[in-house]
Amino acid sequence: MTNILCIGAGYVGGSTIPIVASHCPQHRFIIVDINEERIAAWQSDDLPIYEPGLDEVVRRTRDKNLFFSTDVNRHIAEADIIFVSVNTPTKTFGRGAGKAADLQYWEKTARQISENSSFSKIVVEKSTLPVRTAEAMERILNSNGSGLHFDVLSNPEFLAEGTAVRDMENPDRVLIGGRETDSGRKAVETLVELYANWVPRERIITANLWSSELSKLVANAFLAQRISSINAISALCEKTEADVSEVAYAIGLDNRIGKYFLRASVGFGGSCFKKDILNLVYLCEHYGLPEVASYWEQVVAMNEFQEMRFASKMVASMFNTVAGKKIALFGAAFKANTNDTRESPALEVCRALLEERAEVIITDPHALENARDDLGELAARVVFEPDPYAAAKGAHAIALLTEWNQFAELDYEQIYGSMIKPAFLFDGRNLLDHSKLYELGFNVYPIGKPALTHLHAK
Ligand code: UDX
Ligand code: ADP
Repeated sequence: MTNILCIGAGYVGGSTIPIVASHCPQHRFIIVDINEERIAAWQSDDLPIYEPGLDEVVRRTRDKNLFFSTDVNRHIAEADIIFVSVNTPTKTFGRGAGKAADLQYWEKTARQISENSSFSKIVVEKSTLPVRTAEAMERILNSNGSGLHFDVLSNPEFLAEGTAVRDMENPDRVLIGGRETDSGRKAVETLVELYANWVPRERIITANLWSSELSKLVANAFLAQRISSINAISALCEKTEADVSEVAYAIGLDNRIGKYFLRASVGFGGSCFKKDILNLVYLCEHYGLPEVASYWEQVVAMNEFQEMRFASKMVASMFNTVAGKKIALFGAAFKANTNDTRESPALEVCRALLEERAEVIITDPHALENARDDLGELAARVVFEPDPYAAAKGAHAIALLTEWNQFAELDYEQIYGSMIKPAFLFDGRNLLDHSKLYELGFNVYPIGKPALTHLHAK
């Protein structure tokens, strides 16, 4: 039996380790966090993360070979392998503010590991980190004065929220980076063995530490770049009566381009894309590559343009004013099937509409609580309503901002009947049947395709 510890019970740790535990009944897994409330939630029936299928895995493994605890130091002492998935937000202060990763939690954790260890351990970077972080970690861990040796591995997480369980059960690849020394190679092999309990060997790839760390940033940058590229084209489509879905379909059939990740939207959100790209930008600047930095920075700038463009289009279409108008936002989560609202375009649109003094009401099946927290002081000016029918009642407009299936299945005839006329619907995800909505009487504004409006008709 191996004692495997995960430090940090957030999205990364919480949605991966239970699946590892379910495939490795021979090992003992502990997830620790300094946040007592979070640990209590993991021990309850109401998990802190909404992720399809996760409840079931946790129920099956919890108190068998998976345990949750706040006693970080004791479990560090007992662990053979430690996954570190503490938060690495963007720095908000000092050098690199707004771009560089804030590594203070990471460094604290490294020191804690060093102070509480009496035998050598493998330490695995699970959080997304700037390239060469492992070097700093090795220095902190291996300067403990006790002669202990720690091997630091990089094992970045490629799963997407909302499909975390599926991605983890059946990953495209698992990437493990380590030092090319004897003990480094041995540590890599130990982690390979762990994954080999359920992942086919050919999908477990190994690399040097720096390639592994950088691959995570680059994967996210490439994915986000596709969305920003198609969103840039959506703006052009709206000027030219081209239809962005038709364009995406046509180009996606070229095998070299491929059909995935080309859905034009109100913008990408989530905890990774913006943070990781800015991190990449900072690294490029640091290494004296300003052209490369500004190339990638533009991917983020394009996303901000798309979010603001959407909000401006709403105001412009509604006779250039939304002051005092009730606007129902369908969706707060950054995408469907998650309760995560970090960097959600829905909240950006919300902020822009509040700026214009609209009365905003938000509905979302799972993310209202996080939306309220994220909006901070602004939350007092927003109504949070779990029932979409109630949210739309008496509204001038609906803006669909998260592609929840539930929103596609609503009775829009009933909703239209309960709204102020002319009724506007802005579909930030191209989720709904636009011509049907138009026939019901709505003025429909999709992304990257001509608006369907009754307003100019004679
Ligand atoms: C992403 C990466 O996909 C994952 O591999 C990495 O480990 C973490 O970051 P995640 O942030 O969970 O995962 O969500 P993802 O499905 O990638 O979507 C990101 C954002 O892009 C969402 O706001 C989504 O709605 C948006 N998106 C995605 C689009 O607007 N259009 C698309 O075609 C795809
Ligand atoms: P991610 O999406 O990367 O998982 P989260 O913010 O959801 O990020 O989770 C990170 C978790 O790490 C938080 O619950 C936080 O309380 C925890 N954490 C941060 N520092 C420490 C530490 N030193 N020891 C234990 N847990 C920590």
